[in-house]
Amino acid sequence: MQVIERCLALSQLSEDSDRLTRTFLSPPMREVHRLLREWTEAVGMTVSIDAAGNLRAIYPGDTPECPRILIGSHVDTVPGSGSYDGIIGVMLAIELVERLRGRRLRFGIEVVAFSEEEGVRFSLPFIGSRALVGSIDAAVFATQDRNGISIEQAIRNFDLDPAALPHAMIDPNVTLGYLEFHIEQGPVLEHENLSIGVVSAIAGQSRYELTFTGQANHAGTTPMRLRHDALAAAAEWIVFVEQTGKRTEGLVATVGRIDASPGAGNVIAGEVHATLDVRHADDATRRKALRSILAAARRSTSKRGVTVAATQRLDQTAVQCDPEWVSLLEQASESAGYRAPRLVSGAGHDAMILAQRVPAAMLFLRSPGGISHHRDEAVRAEDVEAAIATGENFLKLLELRIG
Ligand code: HGY
Ligand code: MN
Ligand code: MN
Repeated sequence: MQVIERCLALSQLSEDSDRLTRTFLSPPMREVHRLLREWTEAVGMTVSIDAAGNLRAIYPGDTPECPRILIGSHVDTVPGSGSYDGIIGVMLAIELVERLRGRRLRFGIEVVAFSEEEGVRFSLPFIGSRALVGSIDAAVFATQDRNGISIEQAIRNFDLDPAALPHAMIDPNVTLGYLEFHIEQGPVLEHENLSIGVVSAIAGQSRYELTFTGQANHAGTTPMRLRHDALAAAAEWIVFVEQTGKRTEGLVATVGRIDASPGAGNVIAGEVHATLDVRHADDATRRKALRSILAAARRSTSKRGVTVAATQRLDQTAVQCDPEWVSLLEQASESAGYRAPRLVSGAGHDAMILAQRVPAAMLFLRSPGGISHHRDEAVRAEDVEAAIATGENFLKLLELRIG
């Protein structure tokens, strides 16, 4: 099946030799763009790369002044990613255009392959989709990766011009909305033995980077009572993060990365960098948990003579998908013969950024084993067919709706 074969072809394009990792404007992204350009131009689309490194492919509607819809997802990945997170949304978009076989609709279709959604390289997600809504400011530009390269410099290094960023923005007046196909990345559809689901809302999320600063010292000669152990402070805090998630209904709280220095077994850690990811469908609940988690960091450090600094990287409110587009997707799936329940997405998606400017909706495909952000991530061919059939019906219903 072409959609799956293309996802697998793109999954070979990685920064790492032994796993799939593709971060913001990394070298393999050039080959991704070459393949996407080949596949989109072959179905009559006009292709460009915007200043944020998003690939933009336009399939015109039946008149030059007609509006357009955006269909897309991201083509960056987490380290050790599966082959479908993000990618399959772009492949399905191209497939829908291909299946039009040259027929023009009452609206154009712009396929968008977002350059960065995961937030791996800069601990700052949604760089690609933020360019489309104009929310990349000087502070974002100056954000540096762990090698001290700023986002602005990374754009230049990819032979793109940061000054052209304003041209990446969409015009909400001529954009009907944004549709994203994505794997569920969770267990619900598999548990219900269903192919697809309609996303009703996307949980809000907070992302922080914390630095615990203690005192490196000799592990053999420094009595326990005289230590300022940054790693022990962080470890106590990490257990509190987990406990907060477990005792708060609907909350997920994760410390996904920790770096301790100087990083030797016989040296007390003087400095620790840790990430924090807190999510909930209700913003007030998320922020209350976050306050408690940050207070715990202060407690676990002060008792050890360690200090902690927390830098907010993201405070993304929960987003409701557009009710009308949700209903159209439900009708489209039903007329294709599929039961598609409504789901809240625990994962963040570019749709939550586009929703700031235009109607946005998502269709989930079942994640076999409920696994994602892992090489075992998979999709089933029959679920891809369900998504395509639903997408084709959605386009028809949208044409009827705009009259
Ligand atoms: O982490 C997430 O929510 C998504 O995979 N970007
Ligand atoms: Mn992801
Ligand atoms: Mn994703």
